[in-house]
Amino acid sequence: MADGNITKDAMYDAVAPDDFESMLEVDRYNARTPAFDKIIAATHDHFWDPLDKRYIDFSEPFDMENEALVPDEFFPALETDYVKSKLADPKDRIRFINESTRWSLSSILHGEQGALNLSASLCHVLKDQGAQEYAANQAREEARHVTAFAQYIKARWGTPMPCGPVLKDLLVEIIGAPEVYKKIIGMQMLVEGLAMGAFATFFVKTNDPLMKKLMQLVMTDEAFHHKFGKIWADRTVPKLDPAEHNIVEDWAAHCFQTLLFNLVGPHQQRAMYESFGMDPDIVMQELTVLATDEARREDMKEATNIFRVLIKTLLNAGIITDRTRAFYGMYVDMEELKAEGERMVGDDIADEGIAYLKTINFRTPSVTSMMAAE
Ligand SMILES: [Fe+2]
Ligand SMILES: [Fe+2]
Repeated sequence: MADGNITKDAMYDAVAPDDFESMLEVDRYNARTPAFDKIIAATHDHFWDPLDKRYIDFSEPFDMENEALVPDEFFPALETDYVKSKLADPKDRIRFINESTRWSLSSILHGEQGALNLSASLCHVLKDQGAQEYAANQAREEARHVTAFAQYIKARWGTPMPCGPVLKDLLVEIIGAPEVYKKIIGMQMLVEGLAMGAFATFFVKTNDPLMKKLMQLVMTDEAFHHKFGKIWADRTVPKLDPAEHNIVEDWAAHCFQTLLFNLVGPHQQRAMYESFGMDPDIVMQELTVLATDEARREDMKEATNIFRVLIKTLLNAGIITDRTRAFYGMYVDMEELKAEGERMVGDDIADEGIAYLKTINFRTPSVTSMMAAE
């Protein structure tokens, strides 16, 4: 019978979250895995500071009243007759798109806060100091994402919107869970996979140059977090017995469904719809009629589609079997996805971003950084 963490490689050995004493075992210190050293060392290449204008300047303006931040296609609700009839005035339509974007970016902000707390929680359970250093490094990078998204939302809207109940429950569950597999699948594979897909889509489609820059900078870090999940899966999934594989596969499907629900369910953004005098129940009814499987499959064909990235992550990791294949098959052509290979959408955008960051990071040290070192 497996341990609750489903540990298959010593570098993912874990203890209970409140068991600090085990960290003091003398033998532990000389058994550090080098598996994450490259990721940890690369952090200097893609360093950026959201509060330093050389990297990003949150005072860059955008005409929120007259220009939509993203195109209509981001929000399928705009295709329903009900929503169309409520937004006859073009200015209301722009306001609706920009408020819906505020909701999406607020979800991302809450997700980043979740990633920060989750990677910190990994430091408490993972026993290997190399894995701990990886997690601490990720926590530091997630912290700048929280700062950056909070700054962007402040600049465009003043305040974020509250976290939807479904996303909140998932984040609370994975941060509090003692099981390593729940944390890594839930955050590193699913939420991080979703984030890469969402950031790539915003990067390509947004009309706001500031948002575009923000997405690229965040992606330079996220591409590495996604790799951590992949390393775990490579070292764990092939060694699972059938019962363990079922646990892992079901947990992944549960997380996927939660994230999907958070993204498309108008109920999750009730207050936002009500502020436009709309009933989210009617929006949901009309969306159900519109979103035939056929139409959704068409949407999935776009390389930047966010669900597609998630499913590809799970498929490449060997987590999806015939048990849940049909469930994901509702959203994407699984054969086509398998044939595409391992490169993830967003990797190219992240690579370009890192090349750009190197031009800033490897100039002569600035006055500020010299002062900070004193
Ligand atoms: Fe992040
Ligand atoms: Fe991340």
